Amino acid sequence: MTATSPFPEDFLWGASTAAYQIEGAAAEGGRGPSIWDTFSATPGNVKGGDTGEVACDHYHRWREDFGIAAGLGLKAYRMSVSWARLQPAGRGDLNPVAVAFYREQLADLRDKGIRSAVTLYHWDLPQVLEDEGGWPERATAERFADYAARTARALGDLVDEWIPVNEAWCAAFLGYHAGVHAPGRQDRTAALRAAHHLNLGHGLAVAAIREAAPNARVGSAVIMTDIEAATDKPADREAARLSDGGGNRLFLDPLFRGSYPEDMLRHFAPTGAFDAVLPGDMETVAAPLDFVGVNHYHRFVVEADPADTHLGNRSLPPTNPVTGFGWEINPDSLQRVLERLSAEYTDLPVHITESGASFEDTVGPDGSVDDTDRVDYLDGYMRAAGRAIENGVNLRGYFVWSLLDNFEWGEGYSKRFGLVRVDYATQERTLKRSAHWYRDVIASGGAAL
Ligand code: NOJ
Repeated sequence: MTATSPFPEDFLWGASTAAYQIEGAAAEGGRGPSIWDTFSATPGNVKGGDTGEVACDHYHRWREDFGIAAGLGLKAYRMSVSWARLQPAGRGDLNPVAVAFYREQLADLRDKGIRSAVTLYHWDLPQVLEDEGGWPERATAERFADYAARTARALGDLVDEWIPVNEAWCAAFLGYHAGVHAPGRQDRTAALRAAHHLNLGHGLAVAAIREAAPNARVGSAVIMTDIEAATDKPADREAARLSDGGGNRLFLDPLFRGSYPEDMLRHFAPTGAFDAVLPGDMETVAAPLDFVGVNHYHRFVVEADPADTHLGNRSLPPTNPVTGFGWEINPDSLQRVLERLSAEYTDLPVHITESGASFEDTVGPDGSVDDTDRVDYLDGYMRAAGRAIENGVNLRGYFVWSLLDNFEWGEGYSKRFGLVRVDYATQERTLKRSAHWYRDVIASGGAAL
């Protein structure tokens, strides 16, 4: 901490990416198909028919990308390793080409003095495991534990931080209930079972990583949404409670309290999905962590909606300014979720494992990208993070989503979150104004905010 910055000197100023969103090379190096290859190849699933087949071609251009990361002065970089690349058959020995690929990357980060944070599951389930039933099946959590153990043994000496699962809520509910993410199923009971198996997979992976790499630091990447009731009416407050239960507490309670929230168990009892919880599971899920990672993007103001059979609510259109995605810009939300996490769940060190925004960037005649809106967004959210520190939150890192423009899941390449622009026709990289701005923020230890 300096006179002008609340951020500690060793604060991890970082940026995040994920394998399927940037790597491309979908059929190279022995990679097998994942649920996202299958899902995006099906017309109508992804905007513009986009797929991650080439993406940012990071598989071939990672040296350039890491050079950019180093140039920005990043202290830490969060990436994911692809399960479908490391264990294409979903079981058995790891693919040596993939192990060599990730070892080279991790060694390069270490040479550059950039701490690595590695996510094991950022949504690219090997298709073969989905064919066997996917996350609604307990066997998938067991397969995940095996993949985690093998990967921790193969890469553990080079990884600083491990994150088993990215945003279990999205993987479960967008993938198996809403059907807007891979594998595109619409079955609420399956989604609830998937949620438990993702939580269980997290816990099993924590144990497997600790055994394979005893000095590893292990954390989470839980999505935390700021939810408010539209009015003080009991029905709206109840709607907000349910929405918070399904989006936040269903994942935070197991990790930090070792139980599912009572109201959620009651609410979802008719589905029978929680029969999937076996004796001992909750102790496994709640294995102690070294840090808590939070992804944050949204505030929802919700009101009761009897027509919503899932959680009896709907969110109102934002009244504040929005990002290019239409997501509300409200830095106080970040402060609120951080303070809530500390007050209600854990005093572990906190990392914001993702925060950022997509905007419709335009390229100037000289090729530059003057993304003032992204600078303003990040400035506001980082100041909010600073206020949370001043109020006692033990915040140790902030990873901007994302280093590069990339494949934004169901939105394809239409949404750009990067500090660095990617021209998908030429694969040329251009540092946006936000990248230059972030470099100065990092160099100043946050004082430039
Ligand atoms: C969270 C996800 O982890 C990431 O993959 C995605 O691109 C961002 N949200 C933005 O939607």
